[in-house]
Amino acid sequence: MKSYLTAFSIALCIYACMGQQTYNYTEAIRLSNTFYRIQRQGRIADNHIPWRVDCFLHDGQDVGIDLSGGHFHAADYTKFLFPYASFTTMLNWGLLDWANGYNETVVDDSFDTVRRSLEYLVVMHPSPNVMFVQIGNGSLDHTLWERCEDWPHGPRTTFQINETAPGSDIASEYAAAFASGYLIFKDRDAAFAETLLQHAIDAYEFAFNFRGKYSDSVPEIAEFYNSTGFGDDLGWGAVWLLRATNNTQRYKPILDKLWCEEDYQENNGTEFSWDKKYAGVFILGNKVLEEAGSAEARYRDKGIEYCNAVMNVERTPQGLTLIDEWTPLRFVSNAAFACLNLAEQPNSGNVTAYRLWAMSQMHYILGDTGRSFVVGFGENSPRNPHHRISSCPPRPAPCGWAFFNSDADNHFECTGALVGGPDRNDNFQDLRQNWEQNDVGLDYNAGFQSAMAALNQLQRFGLIP
Ligand SMILES: *[C@@H]1O[C@H](CO)[C@@H](O)[C@H](O)[C@H]1NC(C)=O
Ligand SMILES: *[C@@H]1O[C@H](CO)[C@@H](O)[C@H](O)[C@H]1NC(C)=O
Ligand SMILES: *[C@@H]1O[C@H](CO)[C@@H](O)[C@H](O)[C@H]1NC(C)=O
Ligand SMILES: *[C@@H]1O[C@H](CO)[C@@H](O)[C@H](O)[C@H]1NC(C)=O
Ligand SMILES: *[C@@H]1O[C@H](CO)[C@@H](O)[C@H](O)[C@H]1NC(C)=O
Ligand SMILES: *[C@@H]1O[C@H](CO)[C@@H](O)[C@H](O)[C@H]1NC(C)=O
Ligand SMILES: *[C@@H]1O[C@H](CO)[C@@H](O)[C@H](O)[C@H]1NC(C)=O
Ligand SMILES: *[C@@H]1O[C@H](CO)[C@@H](O)[C@H](O)[C@H]1NC(C)=O
Repeated sequence: MKSYLTAFSIALCIYACMGQQTYNYTEAIRLSNTFYRIQRQGRIADNHIPWRVDCFLHDGQDVGIDLSGGHFHAADYTKFLFPYASFTTMLNWGLLDWANGYNETVVDDSFDTVRRSLEYLVVMHPSPNVMFVQIGNGSLDHTLWERCEDWPHGPRTTFQINETAPGSDIASEYAAAFASGYLIFKDRDAAFAETLLQHAIDAYEFAFNFRGKYSDSVPEIAEFYNSTGFGDDLGWGAVWLLRATNNTQRYKPILDKLWCEEDYQENNGTEFSWDKKYAGVFILGNKVLEEAGSAEARYRDKGIEYCNAVMNVERTPQGLTLIDEWTPLRFVSNAAFACLNLAEQPNSGNVTAYRLWAMSQMHYILGDTGRSFVVGFGENSPRNPHHRISSCPPRPAPCGWAFFNSDADNHFECTGALVGGPDRNDNFQDLRQNWEQNDVGLDYNAGFQSAMAALNQLQRFGLIP
């Protein structure tokens, strides 16, 4: 009986060990940073992407400030700053709390990625109560499928928020990006970090003192990156400012008051995204309040509630947690990263379950179903992401809608981009025209890249297989 059981457990172990694919998380981080370099616009001589050239050098001329630079958000060329600030914060969070997950071969490149976006956010915040939130007309942008250097419509419009047209959502997200940037740069570049800290404090006061939704102030943006509200963002910004300053006198009462506002705790679906920050407020807030000497079990309990709810969401036959059928992989990446953070905190529930669930979801992305969803990574990865600049052939060949609609593969590799993902039956079409499944974006990669660092660190310390 005993030897039978031993044989059984050995067989089980062999089965489990064979079934467990391993992936090179460092390689995924390396490729993800490449994607962020592909997305840069402005003067890009040093982006190390030979097939990209400068474009949109005149941004900001309508407001008399050089606002060239930054990145394309997705396939299109318009600069949308709400998801932009959000992806920066998500990457900073990974660099801050999962530093041991960044192998020395990728750490400098990862800091360079966020330095670029933080420097751009500084330029986009020219005075305490003014912030640029969009550059370019999104509808006009969507009428063409061309190389950015062939943009036919002349200089682009700059949209702003200010005291009379506020945006507490985006201003809080700028504050979070600056505050987290301060924390990761304070030991690397003290002068840059001080600049970021001042911008963080100013941006948060602007968000707090002038209340409103930025998509009401700049209605053009609602069609693209509409904000559903700013209570969550005010909380998110306050948590990051508290962490950066340890100024409990200023930020703790704000958090306490937000907690009591109508719907604050009920507004807790399973989405954690550029627009919805509740999961981050609860999970990071738990850690930050504890470190500030004001531990609050209610934050931890909401974090546990969130991760348990996410793990109970319906899954596809092959095991993908379907938080949203529209671009499921970015949502599951953000949730996985959030719950990996919760699992680090004392008394945070079923730590092993959170880690194994997050790992299973990331492995789905990296190739467990026989295909990878990260361009250039692993086996059978997408070749035709919905991405203009990599799809267009080089000059002088024409690009345009005829090319978009053709069967020709994308001309260049959009290296490192995480695509939207499969449908509810795990079916995926590697078609440029299928933007529901094959779209890419700055925010898609951020939770994913930080989750790679987290898994890498847990694996190094022997906490996951
Ligand atoms: C993993 O990827 C990194 C970065 O590309 C590379 O340096 C390393 O050699 C890879 N490790 C293995 C075991 O292949
Ligand atoms: C970085 O990766 C290399 C190659 O995989 C490995 O030999 C080295 O131990 C790693 N370093 C760290 C700090 O993890
Ligand atoms: C943006 O472009 C569209 C389509 O060309 C046009 O109808 C609209 O008026 C433009 N909006 C602004 C604010 O210029
Ligand atoms: C404030 O922002 C609004 C909305 O973008 C804009 O219409 C207005 O001109 C701005 N105010 C100033 C003083 O620039
Ligand atoms: C933006 O969101 C608000 C609710 O917050 C909604 O009323 C409005 O219709 C949305 N606008 C667009 C264009 O989706
Ligand atoms: C949202 O919060 C309410 C009140 O705390 C709770 O009853 C509900 O279960 C939560 N839902 C999720 C999905 O966490
Ligand atoms: C923050 O300040 C409190 C006292 O107000 C102190 O107990 C705590 O150790 C400080 N935390 C950090 C991270 O400096
Ligand atoms: C934790 O999760 C694991 C894996 O889902 C499960 O087997 C175990 O029973 C859970 N433990 C508790 C205490 O809920």
